Parts: sequence; structure tokens; C-alpha cells
Amino acid sequence: MRIHDWTGFAALGAGVLALVEVFRGHGAWALGWLLAYAALAGLTRWLAVRYPSPMPHMLRWSLLVPRGNQSPGHLLGVLEPRDGERILEIGPGIGIHTVPMAQALAPAGTLDVLDVQQDMLDDVTRRAEAAGVTNITAQLGDAQELPYPDGVFDAAYLLGVLGEIPDEQAALRELRRVLKPTGRLVIGEVLFDPDCVLFGSLKKRTAQASFAFERRLGGFFSYLARFKPA
Ligand SMILES: C[S@@+](CC[C@H](N)C(=O)[O-])C[C@H]1O[C@@H](n2cnc3c(N)ncnc32)[C@H](O)[C@@H]1O
Repeated sequence: MRIHDWTGFAALGAGVLALVEVFRGHGAWALGWLLAYAALAGLTRWLAVRYPSPMPHMLRWSLLVPRGNQSPGHLLGVLEPRDGERILEIGPGIGIHTVPMAQALAPAGTLDVLDVQQDMLDDVTRRAEAAGVTNITAQLGDAQELPYPDGVFDAAYLLGVLGEIPDEQAALRELRRVLKPTGRLVIGEVLFDPDCVLFGSLKKRTAQASFAFERRLGGFFSYLARFKPA
């Protein structure tokens, strides 16, 4: 596990203890744990941003939490996949969004999934097989150097991934390169994630990579933002 995973769990523990002390009526202890929570949460955020790296496979269970604004249904609504298209998912994790997306592209469309960890891709493949989905191609690789030719994808998406990539700008440039001029890009982030890319920062970085902002679902705490090549 990464250092910020440990500090994140410690922050969570401190937060729970602060709540317990509130209910027990111990104001001073509650304040103490609250301060510990704030310090640990700040340290976690700092470490996650300073040392970006992929979520370890052993934490894959955390991807099973209900997604709310980042649900597969909301992603489909924002990305608008159409039968026959070729779409790219970067960093599928265990494939929460992968199977619904591949089903929306069937029968003629295909979904390419790329992840830097083979264990994640194996989980995606198992999940797709269990659902009887056959239009997914899994590829081991790094978002900073995509193994695809120029202009081949109708759309691409990445949820909770950008902040884990050391050179985010390289990844955005690569996405711009592999998308068709008419392509769509959807990026999702949740504030709860320590390496969350805040929307203001995302808008600047996507503009630098020649993307134009189209629209956004959600707000400060959780968003799905759609862009097009500028
Ligand atoms: C927090 S998980 C999100 C998984 C999934 N998108 C979801 O929302 O359930 C981040 C995923 O991005 C992958 N990842 C991180 N850095 C990457 C990189 N440079 N290139 C490709 N995938 C990467 C990780 O291996 C992991 O599967």
C-alpha cells in the first residue's frame, strides 16, 4: 500500500473516534480527535498529490462503494455511447463502468480498456465473461504513452484515475492524440479521493492539451466533466 493509504485510514479512524466522543459528550476529546483527523487528512492529500501512483490491487474492494453521481448510468448519460463506436476506458479498476459501457456499444461497437496493472485487467475480464460481454479488448499499458494509433477512438473516459498518473499533462495529450477530431472525453473525480483533481485545475489542464469544456454533471464534491477536441 502507498503511504497515503495508511495515513488515509488513520484519518478515517480519527474521524470515527471524534464522532464517538461527541456522542459520549466528551467535548475536549472530540476536539482532539477532530484536529488529528484534519492533520491526517491534510497529510494524506499532500502525499497523494506529491507522489501520484496507482491504487494497489489489494484496495479493489473500495471500488465497490455505491457511486452516486459517478454511477455507470450517469456516465452513460454524459458520454452518450452509440452502437458501432470504438471507445477507450483508461484505468477500469475492477470494471464497475466497463460492462454497462460495453453493453451500450453492442452489437457493433467495441470498448478498449487500458490499465497499468494486470490484476485489474484480469478482474475486468472475469467480470465481462460472467456478464457474457465479448466486445471488450483489455490492454496492459500506461496512460502517459498510449499504445494506439492517432484518431481511432470516438470517445474516451477515465474516472478516479487522472490524479494517480505522475504526468497528467502527458496523459491528456495522449488522449487528445488517440481521439477523433469529433471525439468526446469524460473525466470523473470525487473529492473524497485523496488524489482528486479539482475541477478548476482540470479545466486548465484540459485546455492546455487542446480540449474544450462542454458540460458537467455534479458539482464540487463529485463531477463528471465532458470535453471535446478544441
Ligand atoms: C481508483 S482506480 C479507479 C477504477 C475505476 N475507474 C472506477 O472508478 O471504479 C484507478 C485505476 O487507474 C489505474 N491507473 C493508475 N495509473 C494509471 C496509468 N498511468 N495508466 C493506466 N492506468 C492507470 C489503476 O491501476 C486503477 O485501476
